[in-house]
Amino acid sequence: AGNITELLLSRIRDVEDYPEQGVMFKDITPLLADPEAFTALVDALAGIAVSSGATKIVGLEARGFILGAPVAVRAGLGFIPVRKAGKLPGATLRQAYELEYGSAEIEVHAEDLSAGDRVMVVDDVLATGGTAEASLQLIRRAGAEVAGLAVLMELGFLGGRARLEPALRGAPLEAVLTV
Ligand code: PRP
Ligand code: MG
Repeated sequence: AGNITELLLSRIRDVEDYPEQGVMFKDITPLLADPEAFTALVDALAGIAVSSGATKIVGLEARGFILGAPVAVRAGLGFIPVRKAGKLPGATLRQAYELEYGSAEIEVHAEDLSAGDRVMVVDDVLATGGTAEASLQLIRRAGAEVAGLAVLMELGFLGGRARLEPALRGAPLEAVLTV
């Protein structure tokens, strides 16, 4: 058996000063390359999704796709991609969010989410919470309900959890690891 926390932590690589000076990048590629760790993570996230009563999984481009797609399959739920703006061909809803320098926009196909859907958002890292917050706004604008937000890793010192509290409206934020 072993301890999933230790296993996952041991497969995340800290990269100093990437992508810029002063930032500690959390590289999950060693975890993805280890089938035991990747499977344990997908099972944990799928368990969170099933417990929440979610009916759909939203993954956030790009790293949220790597985790969200197998989680959706494992949980027996549909997968909805939230993409960086300009990549989806159909009618979309678009949401802007602030970055440390400048801003960005994400989009979802409007027809993929509607009233009656309960949506679990999956991403790799919760940092400032800006990306996740924008995704929750998209889901609500589409008329769907937020079942929760599930991430591999919460960077607690950046305060993303507090920032997301209003947008979550009581829905759970579950982090497999908090660092
Ligand atoms: C990273 C990470 C999260 C987000 C967290 O995505 O994968 O999605 O930042 O930061 P936040 O909580 O401050 O919004 P990014 O868009 O940098 O890159 P990606 O396309 O590789 O996922
Ligand atoms: Mg990302």
